[in-house]
Amino acid sequence: MNKTLIVGNWKMNLNVHQASLYVHELSEKTPVHNNVEVVLAPNALALQTLSLQVRRRQFRLAAQNVYHRDEGAFTGEIAAPMLKGLAQYVIIGHSERRHIFHESDKDIRAKVQTVLRNGLIPILCVGETASERANNEIKHVLHDQIVGGLANVSSEEVGKVVIAYEPVWAIGTGKNAISHDLEKARDIIRHQIRSLYGESAEKAVRLLYGGSVNTDNAMDYLDLPGVNGLLIGGASLKLEQFVSIIKKAHELKKKTELQRV
Ligand code: PGA
Repeated sequence: MNKTLIVGNWKMNLNVHQASLYVHELSEKTPVHNNVEVVLAPNALALQTLSLQVRRRQFRLAAQNVYHRDEGAFTGEIAAPMLKGLAQYVIIGHSERRHIFHESDKDIRAKVQTVLRNGLIPILCVGETASERANNEIKHVLHDQIVGGLANVSSEEVGKVVIAYEPVWAIGTGKNAISHDLEKARDIIRHQIRSLYGESAEKAVRLLYGGSVNTDNAMDYLDLPGVNGLLIGGASLKLEQFVSIIKKAHELKKKTELQRV
């Protein structure tokens, strides 16, 4: 069974002590569900502490970024081999990295490659800005980001990739996408994967939605076929909200599984 993937991106929040406390409280309130995988993305400094603290069956960990080289004179950077054993996932090409730190599709593709090479799972973020949306460029933008980001990924590897559709105008703004926006993006993204890698890859790649997700709107996205989970920023830092989204995701998945039998 394909589990629902709920990823909490804490961005540059919570120091090691706060992160550890938060995880302690979260683990008390979150039973292990066999149909939901919960992934936490703390800052890089907290990864080691949390990797010792969490039970893998309950939570997995993600790094928020990585450098594309495996070692060397790159002051301030963290390499994928350093993340092995600490994290299972790596978020790549988040819109804050693309726009604040000017990461290009070329940088992003090199990161996706290094992550896969080191046995980690990339969460490749894609999404259009408000002006690209206003100019009807969503299809082109997603096409370029998918083709650009996956350029060096083989058909054997592509099934491991997670893609997060995160419209830039929806991130941290409270202006979440409506189901129709997500359906449109889902179709573009899945079609793109199919034309690059074929039908089995299209089915294997997991697709997440991210952008102002909260307890009230989370189910609208999870209810859509072909959407496998959520990438949550702000609401993942609010314990009660995050717990409630995980619970709802579990209940929804259970319901859909029951309907299938
Ligand atoms: P948000 O962030 O949920 O606060 O909008 C999502 C993200 O940046 O991944």
